[in-house]
Amino acid sequence: MKKLHGIKALAFDAYGTVFDVHSVVDLAEKMFPGKGKELSQLWRAKQIEYMYLRTIMGRYIPHNQNTEAGLTYSMKYLQLPGGATERKALMDAYEKLSPFNDARQTLPQLSGIKKAILSVGTPALLKNLVTNAGIESQFDALLSVDEVKVYKPHPRTYQLATDKFGLQRHEIGFVTSNYFDVAGAKAFGFQVIWINRNSALPDELGLTPDAELSSIAQIPEILSN
Ligand code: LAC
Repeated sequence: MKKLHGIKALAFDAYGTVFDVHSVVDLAEKMFPGKGKELSQLWRAKQIEYMYLRTIMGRYIPHNQNTEAGLTYSMKYLQLPGGATERKALMDAYEKLSPFNDARQTLPQLSGIKKAILSVGTPALLKNLVTNAGIESQFDALLSVDEVKVYKPHPRTYQLATDKFGLQRHEIGFVTSNYFDVAGAKAFGFQVIWINRNSALPDELGLTPDAELSSIAQIPEILSN
């Protein structure tokens, strides 16, 4: 496996990378049998679209409000029954996600290097997620885009990590499962590790990761200093 050189800190994306959103998909399916997958996919797509639009328009709001707005739209679009109660249950599930096993097991093995979460989630949400999961002590920093009031993949969001650690861009290894985040982080100048657990197709943006892994468990193997 190709090694990456000169990485002095790691920054991890949260949703879908360290934290598994499958529990939300399961709950959606339980609530709306046969429609859970469609709802989850449209919800995710709308949440991200609203994030991009709000960055472009200069209309930042805390990201959980994009998540809820995307859910409201998707339930209406799919003409699903239910309202505030269902929305609240799904939003609550989003706040109590479990980490993927590979994250839980590998983070303690990366003890010789500084680590941060760098996420569009609000500071309170990120703090709750890592605390609920009992992995708070694994991170030196929880970096939220709320500090800069734009969302990923705006370069200003990635700069939170270089500012926090006082490092050059190429000295930070950025770990994400989301391809828009791979592209944004690579454009910024990080060394990017794409965690591609489900063999997704890379987007055609002319920006490719420095490493593609199927599990966070492979990270220690590719780091060399
Ligand atoms: C995050 C989203 C992009 O945590 O997964 O920033």
